[in-house]
Amino acid sequence: MLEHLIFRPGPAGKKGRGRGVAFSPPLREAVLSLRAQSAKLVARPVGRLQGRVRAPGDKSLSHRALMFGALALGGTTVRGLLEGEDVLATAAALRALGAEVTHERDAGLWRVRGFGVGGGREPADVLELGNSGTSARLLAGILASHPFTSVMTGDASLRRRPMQRVIEPLTRMGACFEGREGGRLPLAIIGTDEMVPIEYRLPVASAQVKSAILLAGLNTAGETTVIEPEPTRDHTERMLRHFGAELRVAPVEGGGKRITVIGWPELKGRDIVVPGDPSSAAFAVVAAAVRPGSDVTIENVGVNPLRVGLYQTLRDMGADIAFENARELGGEPVADLHVKGGVLQGVEVPAERAPSMIDEYPILAIAAACAKGTTRMLGLAELRAKESDRLASVSAGLSANGVKHEMGAADLVVHGTGAPPAGGGLVATHLDHRIAMAFLVLGLATREPVAVDDGSPIDTSFPGFTQLMNGLGARIEAA
Ligand code: S3P
Repeated sequence: MLEHLIFRPGPAGKKGRGRGVAFSPPLREAVLSLRAQSAKLVARPVGRLQGRVRAPGDKSLSHRALMFGALALGGTTVRGLLEGEDVLATAAALRALGAEVTHERDAGLWRVRGFGVGGGREPADVLELGNSGTSARLLAGILASHPFTSVMTGDASLRRRPMQRVIEPLTRMGACFEGREGGRLPLAIIGTDEMVPIEYRLPVASAQVKSAILLAGLNTAGETTVIEPEPTRDHTERMLRHFGAELRVAPVEGGGKRITVIGWPELKGRDIVVPGDPSSAAFAVVAAAVRPGSDVTIENVGVNPLRVGLYQTLRDMGADIAFENARELGGEPVADLHVKGGVLQGVEVPAERAPSMIDEYPILAIAAACAKGTTRMLGLAELRAKESDRLASVSAGLSANGVKHEMGAADLVVHGTGAPPAGGGLVATHLDHRIAMAFLVLGLATREPVAVDDGSPIDTSFPGFTQLMNGLGARIEAA
């Protein structure tokens, strides 16, 4: 019920959303905290999990399909789009910029009629991006290269997240920004259509920063280049090419890549199929992997080599995970993940692997808590800049559930005994969907149930999580 009263961007895509009341900020925060109180969830220990399910659409690809459709001329269709709150926030922002974004629910089809590179119009109101860092960072690249002023804001989590990482390169290209301290949201973007091309070496391994610069480069004369010392997910490069952009990708001596986009391409509308999200599939995969006797298949999961670090790590831990029916879908490799449960062993996860599993450390920490031996996870500084400070959130959740571990500035060491952890704790999710889902998975494998204080953020990336997990034999319910 409360859901329907909360201020939302107003997408047509979800029943009940979009007829929300635009509350003043203090009232909105109060309503959100009421919603949190009513969204406490608990997971109870279960035996084995079994079944065949389909993961929801990939979040990264869903944002990009809508954005690139908006930057193209003509019509784009998207099947398999993730209809989570983050992607709906992107859809609403693109509508505010003049794109037509519609949803044919029965056909499971989204349509975008774009405005073309540089053809967006000034949004009449503040762009409300909810919890979505990908919306904020990628849209910053698009908005910076338009000759008008726009303002982005979001929920308490997004308003805490660092934006300086996109502000810095986009300022070099010619845009101006006015934000809160450290360039945080609400952020005003004073754009220009006279951007200058740059060559920029990424100081952090971030696909969002890379994508923001490449998107700004689309509406910039000449060649804009990003050098990424550590490879990050390459969905932007793959999909932009599919829409007709000209990109050059070359290896850099000593490791990494040099990615150049040629300005002012004519992007053409395309038909896109979005595969399932490996970051969402991860919760069912780990749940099955740590419950001996489990046999679960998650169909149609994207297995882009730059996204599968978790699966490689779980295999190193002794998990039985087969990639079946490997194929290509919409320019991305896809497979059905077949998992059999057992007892995992602790391992060391090298820092170089972090970019390929950056969203998966909360659920890996749960696998480590259930494993036998010590798991060392290194190179985790970026986890502090996610929807919550994920290192701190994971550590607090492990402590609340009797899991021995040590947290450093950029690493996490978890000591598993191979026996079920104690459980019995209440975990603070801090508006972080992956913290909520990870600890609900822990509660399937502990001696006592595990509760999370607020399950509502799960809808940002994985609507239907509870039903999907319960369909496999989990016991997750309102507390
Ligand atoms: C994303 C990149 C990653 C990831 C996020 C989605 C993307 O963020 O954590 O969930 O779609 O490009 P960073 O680029 O900040 O690492």
